[in-house]
Amino acid sequence: MKPGAAGIIALDGPAASGKTTIGRMLAARLAYLFFDTGVMYRTVALAAYQSGVDPTDEAAISALAEKIVIDVLPPADGDGRTSTVLLDGEDVSWAIREPVVDATVSQISAYRRVRAAMVAQQRKIGLRGKVVMVGRDIGTVVLPEADLKVYLDASLAERSRRRFAELQSRGGKQTLQEVQTGLARRDEVDSGRDLSPLHPAEDAVIIDTTAMTPEKILKKIESLFENN
Ligand code: DC
Repeated sequence: MKPGAAGIIALDGPAASGKTTIGRMLAARLAYLFFDTGVMYRTVALAAYQSGVDPTDEAAISALAEKIVIDVLPPADGDGRTSTVLLDGEDVSWAIREPVVDATVSQISAYRRVRAAMVAQQRKIGLRGKVVMVGRDIGTVVLPEADLKVYLDASLAERSRRRFAELQSRGGKQTLQEVQTGLARRDEVDSGRDLSPLHPAEDAVIIDTTAMTPEKILKKIESLFENN
């Protein structure tokens, strides 16, 4: 890393590409803040579900996103959570991982006002530096000035296998096929949307993690960061 750099690492990629696992490990090693921006969009989707707002009603969802207070804190419990997420003060860290949220979050995160509200908060946190920020548009939109941009990818089959294992460990009921269908649908919405679609920044390093262990991925990113 260049002397005087803020220490901003942007980690983007499709669902279940390893961003969270790698981002957490990397942040721990560097003693940086780990910030998973996906939890914010998930919280908006959960708030909509809880208050009965139709996910196709863009104006109502946008107003909701601008009204709710989302707090993302370091994990408060050693129960495997990656952060503690509060929605208007209530702990929703696990509720945002439910299939009802998976089903609508891509659609909701495509709305302009929803993105504007979330990006403003993310940028404020990211610019403080010493941060590993994880998402879909961190290197392209949220923090284009990042010191290092990495785009993690993996085959759909491998990502489905990883997400399925993760859900099973929490007692999830979905089949592998259902997980794969859901991921493919989210990929399509996340990459096809007009606003900040999922794609690597021009200056991002793309890593295909399909056949790589987390340790190997981490070594590669650490060496890119050191030699940056
Ligand atoms: O990473 P995740 O699966 O928790 O993300 C949930 C959804 O949020 C995903 O479908 C796309 C959206 N998202 C986004 O649009 N921009 C981000 N920076 C992070 C997530």
